[in-house]
Amino acid sequence: MIIAIDGPAASGKGTVAKRIAAHYGLPHLDTGALYRAVARDTVARGDDLTDPAVAAAAAGHLDVDTLDDPALRTAGVGEAASIVARHGEVRAVLLEYQRRFAKNPAGAVIDGRDIGTVICPDADVKLFVTASSEERAHRRYLELRESGIRISEDEVLADIRNRDARDRTREASPLRQAEDAALLDTTNLDIDAAFRAAIDLIEAAMGQAGQAG
Ligand code: CDP
Repeated sequence: MIIAIDGPAASGKGTVAKRIAAHYGLPHLDTGALYRAVARDTVARGDDLTDPAVAAAAAGHLDVDTLDDPALRTAGVGEAASIVARHGEVRAVLLEYQRRFAKNPAGAVIDGRDIGTVICPDADVKLFVTASSEERAHRRYLELRESGIRISEDEVLADIRNRDARDRTREASPLRQAEDAALLDTTNLDIDAAFRAAIDLIEAAMGQAGQAG
C-alpha cells in the first residue's frame, strides 16, 4: 500500500505521515529532507542555490544516510530548500530515489509537495494535509522557540507565506492537491485528532477501492 501525503509547510503532514507509517508498519520517506539536504550541500560547497546545474550535481552526490541531520531542520535550510526545489534538474535526480523507495514490496508512506501528483500518481491513498497560514506559523514558531531559536511569530508567518507562494507558483511540480486526494484540514486539530482523522480517511479510501475491485 502506497500512501502519498502532500501539503504546505508546518501543516502537520510530517508528524501524521510518521505515525501512519508506524501504524501500518510501513517505511516512511520525508522527501522535504532530500531537498533540505541538497540545499545544505550546495551551500557547504560554496555554490549558488539558484544555479540548476550545481544544485543538480549536489543532488547526484547526495548521501541519504545524512537525512536525519538536525542541521536540516532550521528555517534557513527550509528557505534554501525551496530555492533548489524550483529546479527541474534537481527534481529529476531526486525523482529516481523517491520512485525506488516507493517500490518497497509492502508499500510506503511518502510525504512532500508532489507525491500524489508526480512521484506516485497511482498511490493507493492520497491525502492533502493543510491548515491556515496563521496556525501553521504558530506551530512552527513554537517548534523553533523550543529548539532555542529566537524569532518573532510575525517573521515566521512571513517566511511561511513566502515559501508557500514559491512552492505553489513554481513551474516544476508545484504544490497542489491531486484531484483524487482527500483533504485534511488540521487547523483545529491537535496531533492525535489529526492522526485519527487521517486513519479514517485512509480506511474509507481503502474500503472504496475494495468495493470497486
Ligand atoms: O517541514 P516543512 O513542511 O517546512 O518543509 P519540508 O517538507 O521539509 O520541505 C522543504 C522545502 O522543500 C519545501 O518548501 C519545498 O520547496 C521543497 N519540497 C519540494 O519541492 N518537494 C517535495 N516533495 C518536498 C519538499
